[in-house]
Amino acid sequence: MKNIYSNIYSFNKKVLNKTVISLKLGDLVGLPTETIYGLAGNAYSKKAVKKIFKLKKRPKKNPLIIHYLNKKDASKDVLFNDNFLKLYEKFCPGPITFVLKKNKISKISPGAVANLNTVAIRFPNHGVIKKILKLTGFPLAMPSANLSSKLSPVYASDVFEDFKKKIKIIIDGGKSKFGIESTVIDLTNTPKILRPGAINSNEIKSLIKLSLSKKKIGLKSPGMLKKHYSPGIPVILGKKPKKQSHAFIVFGKKYKNNDNYFNLSKKSDLKEAASNLYKVMRKIKKKGYKKIFVAKIPNTGLGVAINDRLNRASK
Ligand code: TXA
Ligand code: MG
Repeated sequence: MKNIYSNIYSFNKKVLNKTVISLKLGDLVGLPTETIYGLAGNAYSKKAVKKIFKLKKRPKKNPLIIHYLNKKDASKDVLFNDNFLKLYEKFCPGPITFVLKKNKISKISPGAVANLNTVAIRFPNHGVIKKILKLTGFPLAMPSANLSSKLSPVYASDVFEDFKKKIKIIIDGGKSKFGIESTVIDLTNTPKILRPGAINSNEIKSLIKLSLSKKKIGLKSPGMLKKHYSPGIPVILGKKPKKQSHAFIVFGKKYKNNDNYFNLSKKSDLKEAASNLYKVMRKIKKKGYKKIFVAKIPNTGLGVAINDRLNRASK
């Protein structure tokens, strides 16, 4: 069934088949995942991968995450190690991305991984995408379905906002559960978190040893480019606005219900706050506010990912 937007579809068998055919033809589709919505294409197809970079206006040196149904499928393209196997057992399918060495027989289009000899792989946990991956016979290169450097999408309509009808199919899977991107961890050396995300480092540390070095190692996660996740209006951190015409993002019950206050979580729950972050920033932008001020948010657990995104949005 079609939604009010003619290219947003509710999920059913017919839409599943149409989506798989589109992907096989090298076209791109907008898909829900448990983290955020993604812009998916065949990772083995040079043509599809080229379209992803072009449509997102993404710098070619920023590699894509390759998505698989399970580790058997991923073993066709990357080399596993013990740390990977431990984390896979615990968290997958789920919101974590592993950077591993690419193997020699991999069919991943080199452009998808920015010609690196490593690949970031993820096993998404969302019914829609799992059904699609079962039928494609190839993995999906899938960045967030937003224009490069803009806010990530958590609703099908957010995907439409950035790409309109430039993609033929956007599948509506409801609001993304986590509402923030996966955690990216480099496992090619001493494990190191490259992008904090939906799984916090304490959960990971209980299983494997993490490098605490702050030293930058070459390119690593280019999503760590400074300016990113921008709502398109200035974001000022750690300060209260002086005018009603400026929005204030807050956290916790001590804040009033003023019209220009947007509470990420009244009950001070960081998971809830993370899942509301992009949603709230889009809402503020749509309401026409000219600036966003943000109260201090605890920098523990999921707060680390929230503060990472806010810092970049403020650049
Ligand atoms: O939750 C997610 O991860 C979402 C959903 C759609 O799966 N995807 C996502 O993709 O956030 P994207 O393209 O917006 O972010 C991918 C991140 C970037 O920071 C990129 O630099 C990093 O992963 N990355 C990809 N391949 C890499 C590699 N070989 N080495 C290091 N970092 C890599
Ligand atoms: Mg992104």
